[in-house]
Amino acid sequence: MERAEDAGVFKLTDDLAIVQTVDFFTPIVDDPFDFGQIAVANALSDVYAMGGTPITALNVVCFPNSTMDLSILHKVLEGGLAKMHEAGVILLGGHTVDDPELKYGLAVTGTIRPKDVIHNSTARPGDALILTKPLGTGIISTAIKAGFASKQAIDAVVKSMTALNRTASQVMLEVGVNACKDVTGFGLLGHACEMIEDTTVGLEIEAAAVPLFPQAREYYDTGMVPGGLTRNRDYRKNQVDYNPALPNFLKDILSDPQTSGGLLIAVPQGKAQTLLKKLHAKGVKPATIIGKVVAENKGRIKVT
Ligand code: CO
Ligand code: CO
Repeated sequence: MERAEDAGVFKLTDDLAIVQTVDFFTPIVDDPFDFGQIAVANALSDVYAMGGTPITALNVVCFPNSTMDLSILHKVLEGGLAKMHEAGVILLGGHTVDDPELKYGLAVTGTIRPKDVIHNSTARPGDALILTKPLGTGIISTAIKAGFASKQAIDAVVKSMTALNRTASQVMLEVGVNACKDVTGFGLLGHACEMIEDTTVGLEIEAAAVPLFPQAREYYDTGMVPGGLTRNRDYRKNQVDYNPALPNFLKDILSDPQTSGGLLIAVPQGKAQTLLKKLHAKGVKPATIIGKVVAENKGRIKVT
């Protein structure tokens, strides 16, 4: 049995494999077009995390026919289609079921050369860890649901969550990296733990270096803490050593569940600056070195 990767890879020939994944969820923003774009960017992300190119998709839709206006669904699907168009992905069809709660996402098929597959568990001691999007979408979505989020905060998370991880994926393939994983529902620490489980390495993450949405702190302090954050943090508590001097906010946001989060990349130290420069030059501005892979502390994360 192989380890859990972000997406399933099936080798067709020595030079060609398909990458498949499915993801769908309930709205996390109020605008249906934005939601459609976010759901698609999120669903494609697992293919990008492995270094693949998504090519076709099927819509997966749950819709409350009796309580919601059909025009809302049309806007969700339009947003999704616009994002697929941007990604060069062809929509082949889909399926809708009547359900009390709106949900949308995709089943995605991509291609990859088997030798180019980037695994999530192959980080090496000395690698730099790079994160390509800010954290805090869970906290800010909670504030949106409570009617508490500012327009500025909403615009910032929507811009980030609708951004494809495609550029980051292409740049990491170009530079050559050791491992990659996208950061989604289990939060940065949850996915970082998955990267090192059953390996011989540990991680060090510098909390103050991690890119965050500026409004996350204020909303966290007002109690806008998603249930998923607490569950994620508690689930991994035996694998993480926090610097006790860190404020709770900085510890907790590392477990904030992300939607359409960035890529967490382990890159050889000697290539880290090149990767970072190329990411910034190609528009992946938030990309930041947030820590490193270490030979000691096997299977554990030290947050400094
Ligand atoms: Co993933
Ligand atoms: Co996924």
